[in-house]
Amino acid sequence: MSKLIVGNWKMNCLAEDGTALARGLAEKVKQSSKPSDLALCPPAPLIPLIVEATKNSAVSVGGQDCHWEGLGAHTGDVSASLLADLGCTHTIVGHSERRSDHGETDAQVKAKAEAALEVGLVAIVCVGETEAQRDAGDAEIVIGGQIACSLPTGGTPDTVVIAYEPVWAIGTGRTPSLNEISAIHGFIRGKALESHGLGDGLQILYGGSVKPSNAAEILAIGDVGGALVGGASLTVEDFWGIIESCP
Ligand code: PGA
Repeated sequence: MSKLIVGNWKMNCLAEDGTALARGLAEKVKQSSKPSDLALCPPAPLIPLIVEATKNSAVSVGGQDCHWEGLGAHTGDVSASLLADLGCTHTIVGHSERRSDHGETDAQVKAKAEAALEVGLVAIVCVGETEAQRDAGDAEIVIGGQIACSLPTGGTPDTVVIAYEPVWAIGTGRTPSLNEISAIHGFIRGKALESHGLGDGLQILYGGSVKPSNAAEILAIGDVGGALVGGASLTVEDFWGIIESCP
């Protein structure tokens, strides 16, 4: 299975630079002989522009979040059905910035992932420990709990992707060692099998300060199914450098 590289633009890019970035990547993909599996997750209002900019290319588009309800009175939220309607194929749920900025709970993340599955989107469910939790030796307890309680019921390796993002590695330039990434991905795989029957073929992405200079060694780890990339997804050069690092 090819590695999945997801660009999480967060609250970055305006219409013009976002469109240029997406066009630039779509062009690279078209010119490349290497098959790549990549998705761009722009801020929600940019989705139609990015879908248009990547039309007829192998670039997928995803949301950064969705609500757990189909439609309704939820000011400022975006439904999974709207994401799908606009041409998205994926959505991130439970990113640590949503969990901390908006107090999202595991139960809400699970409901969001289930809403995504219901309309045919692949749910990219984020998990990861804070630095304090890691220092206290609690990383596995925290991640195990997030796996048990935020993965959707009824998911399969085709519809659910897990992104392991240690909170202390996001946007900091710091990453766990390769051995640590490998060990925690193995742990996550075991837990997802135990709690949800998600076994062989489940893609587990690593996220947190992935850049062109460290992507090759991280993506070479067998249990790492791809990368969720923030800062380095904001230029064609850096993001393409990561895509080209796929083994
Ligand atoms: P980063 O962000 O690559 O800027 O560390 C990753 C993420 O939050 O998804």
